[in-house]
Amino acid sequence: MGKVGFGMTAGIAAVTCTVAAAVVGRRIRSRRDWRRAVEVVRELEAACGTSVNRLRQVVDAMAVEMHAGLASEGGSKLKMLLTFVDKLPNGSEKGIFYALDIGGTNFRVIRVHLGGRRSGILRHNVERNSIPQHLMTSTSEELFDFIAMSLKQFVDREEEKTSEPSLVSRRELGVTFPFPVKQRCVSSGILMKWTKGFSVADMIGKDVSESLQQSMIKKDLGSMRVAALVNDTVGTLAVGHYNDEDTVAAVIIGTGTNACYLERADAIIKSQGLLMASGGMVVNMEWGDFWSSHLPRTRYDIDLDAESPSPNDQVFEKMISGMYLGDIVRRVVLRISQESGIFGSASSRLSTPFILGTPLMATMHQDDTPDLREVAAILNDVLGIADVSLKARKLIVNICDIITHRAARLVAAGIVGILKKIGRDGSSGVAGGRAKGGGGASSSGGGKSRTVVAIEGSLYTNYTLFREYLNDAVAEILGKEFSPFVILKVTEDGSGIGAALLAASHSPNSADM
Ligand SMILES: *[C@@H]1O[C@H](CO)[C@@H](O)[C@H](O)[C@H]1NC(C)=O
Ligand SMILES: *[C@@H]1O[C@H](CO)[C@@H](O)[C@H](O)[C@H]1NC(C)=O
Ligand SMILES: *[C@@H]1O[C@H](CO)[C@@H](O)[C@H](O)[C@H]1NC(C)=O
Repeated sequence: MGKVGFGMTAGIAAVTCTVAAAVVGRRIRSRRDWRRAVEVVRELEAACGTSVNRLRQVVDAMAVEMHAGLASEGGSKLKMLLTFVDKLPNGSEKGIFYALDIGGTNFRVIRVHLGGRRSGILRHNVERNSIPQHLMTSTSEELFDFIAMSLKQFVDREEEKTSEPSLVSRRELGVTFPFPVKQRCVSSGILMKWTKGFSVADMIGKDVSESLQQSMIKKDLGSMRVAALVNDTVGTLAVGHYNDEDTVAAVIIGTGTNACYLERADAIIKSQGLLMASGGMVVNMEWGDFWSSHLPRTRYDIDLDAESPSPNDQVFEKMISGMYLGDIVRRVVLRISQESGIFGSASSRLSTPFILGTPLMATMHQDDTPDLREVAAILNDVLGIADVSLKARKLIVNICDIITHRAARLVAAGIVGILKKIGRDGSSGVAGGRAKGGGGASSSGGGKSRTVVAIEGSLYTNYTLFREYLNDAVAEILGKEFSPFVILKVTEDGSGIGAALLAASHSPNSADM
């Protein structure tokens, strides 16, 4: 800009002035934008508050709702379903057992060889299959015939391969069935409704085990008997208890979430008038349905719920499970983008529900590159937001942190709520430490007994910060004195191995003599 005539000077000065004013204007606007963005995040943080006092209120609410749900059907949002599982495997089981783990469109057949006397699982073999699309909407007979045929082929192949003396006159099968079932006894239950894209109309209201059993007979597998029909959460508890008899509860926290625990016999008899000879029974809480006014819900949760296919249901699940965390974050980012310019012009992808999955959210949250490169890449590739400043990237990490921190701490409160219900949280009152369960009574004294909770699911195993927040919160709620007695243990393959173990513990001839 060297060659400027004198006559132009005044004009240039005027232009410079306007440019400067524009720059100042932009700066003011951007400062205002920034202030607004920070405000939104601060509001979020306040609304997601999980002080230990707040968490203790959630603990109490969970225990109260558990009582209410047990006392009467519909007495609480928590369904508290009796599973009729009254013998958890404890390592004494012996023999060969099968499991059928239906996961939706895929299923696995599993064979385990149990050694008894705590020698554990000697061998286990797995085969994966998928259900052909057309069977998902056909008749129950066709569907179960197909599954029974796969089972039969697997059994034949395995028994040939292992050249074990095939003196088996009876084979026990545990089935994990991922649809809502009303249990009639440990080995059978009625299908309430289909989900996951299935709609086999003639199956609703029918007994799942009976239908499967009929198909097995047809496929020349009449020697196999459904010994247990279980929810995957119960399978997780079974694996946990098999490995460690102090395991009293199980939590699944992945895409979905649920929990179950071993309830004392007297608590169940009192509330359900059930005749029970044994020490206790596993209760499937369906805890995703938990609701309490103490849950720190935000406008984003309320909107997410209202726009979901099941408003007012699964309120807890919608705040804590992998299905939803990413979408809560997306909603916050969308609002910031609407109310400030810090993410540039609005991207339509940001308005697409569930476009930001929780694994991506976890990647952003745990991005340890100095310039938050992964955050930038995901914002760009997934949400269509380009050229985000480092400061704004940090804000994104902050949002992920707030949402995951809240989720993990609420799960922790839920877990302590269960422990409180069975008198294992160190608080006095309820039954002290004398909560003796099914097979697994642990030594106790003065309310302090070693207590294990089995945990399964990708949120806990794959998302390091989630796991750390959860562990820390359990310790914080329980306090220094009692937290050493409560152990959270990662458990694997409850829906497969767990079902086989439950077939074993409920089989009449499995235990060591
Ligand atoms: C394990 O369970 C079996 C069957 O319920 C029982 O007979 C056995 O005593 C239990 N073993 C231990 C070590 O508790
Ligand atoms: C059991 O688990 C599945 C998830 O695998 C869930 O969808 C189902 O509704 C659960 N509950 C019952 C009562 O079957
Ligand atoms: C969890 O991590 C393992 C190992 O990194 C990976 O194979 C698996 O796909 C992850 N699962 C989910 C649900 O993200």
